[in-house]
Amino acid sequence: MKLMNISLFSGAIFAFLIIYLGSKENTVNYKVQNEKSVMGIERSSYGVTENDEKVEVFKLYNLKGIQVSIITYGGRITAVETPDKNGNKENVILGFKNLEQYEKPNPYFGALVGRYGNRIAKGKFTLNNIEYQLAKNNGENSLHGGLVGFDKVVWKVAEIEENETSVVLKLSYLSKDMEEGFPGNLKTTVTYTLNYDNSLDVLYEATTDKTTIVNLTQHSYFNLSGDFSQTILDHVVEINADKFVPVDNTLIPTGNLASVDDTPFDFRAPTLVGKHINSKNEQVTLGGGYDHCWVLNNQGKGYRSVAKAYHPASGRTMEVLTDQPGVQFYTGNFLDGTLPTPNGGVFGKRSGFCFETQHYPDAPNQPQFPSTVLEPGEKYETKTTFKFSVN
Ligand code: GLA
Repeated sequence: MKLMNISLFSGAIFAFLIIYLGSKENTVNYKVQNEKSVMGIERSSYGVTENDEKVEVFKLYNLKGIQVSIITYGGRITAVETPDKNGNKENVILGFKNLEQYEKPNPYFGALVGRYGNRIAKGKFTLNNIEYQLAKNNGENSLHGGLVGFDKVVWKVAEIEENETSVVLKLSYLSKDMEEGFPGNLKTTVTYTLNYDNSLDVLYEATTDKTTIVNLTQHSYFNLSGDFSQTILDHVVEINADKFVPVDNTLIPTGNLASVDDTPFDFRAPTLVGKHINSKNEQVTLGGGYDHCWVLNNQGKGYRSVAKAYHPASGRTMEVLTDQPGVQFYTGNFLDGTLPTPNGGVFGKRSGFCFETQHYPDAPNQPQFPSTVLEPGEKYETKTTFKFSVN
């Protein structure tokens, strides 16, 4: 009996030691996972543009989660590799295999868009009684900053930082007075921060020396399946918006804000993208699918969660947080099977979707919309986060 007790006692001590040491080991491992070896940035050359400018590529990684590749040409995100529910990592960003392809005409793949994301009617606006005329690069209208917008310039590397829980790449670009027809020297920085929790922050900052307009955004196309031969119609999307911005047949806002109630624009509950995308609804028809700005709820609350996309088969989920009043949800309706994927296929219609956080289109000509005017002495500062997870 005594012997029994002793062996039970020593057994208990043994078990305790195993559990204790095991948990110690976990602690040590956890600490190791927090070291720089898990979060990091790699820098390498990506090529040289037609104008002989050097372009670099940065790989921001979080080895326990995602890896993000960004090039200095257009500040473009060329890839985001994320695990699916079985741990298989795949790239979920539509992109090309080299710089040459990025320099050819393409619909803003992965790009930073500026100075003015989205459309300005007839490319015209007036500030302090002076009328400015931009290039009409989208029918009669100006789209995404003009002929050579922020998506087609080489950004400077302003800062690289590696912390225990995040890695930071800050890019800068000086857009000169009257570049693409916009007044004022606009000093712009965009800071990409990859965090330990698999979120990617995009912080936009700008100052000007003359009254101007600014509306910067990120134009990445996502396909959470990681398979670009598939459409995104099987994704489930949620947008926290009671209203959207109806447009005319050139995709310029009519000026009213419409309720999403009983329309294909109601994404307040999780809804399959394909559910109403071919509906005869006039607005859906005008966009050739979704290509509209949603009027986000809780505008007074600043930075908040505004949208989500979920791909049931892979389990990949992306949440969007922003301080902006709107998000352009674009379902890649103009992709037409002519642009090559990196692995020999083509990007077909609706093979990607964008969540472009921003102010409403044509705000410079629609005084009832939140203003996009930036004055000297003011600072433009806005943050959007894309947070990846698996469900
Ligand atoms: C934005 C526009 C779309 C289209 C794409 C690029 O999302 O709203 O209409 O121009 O950019 O093709």
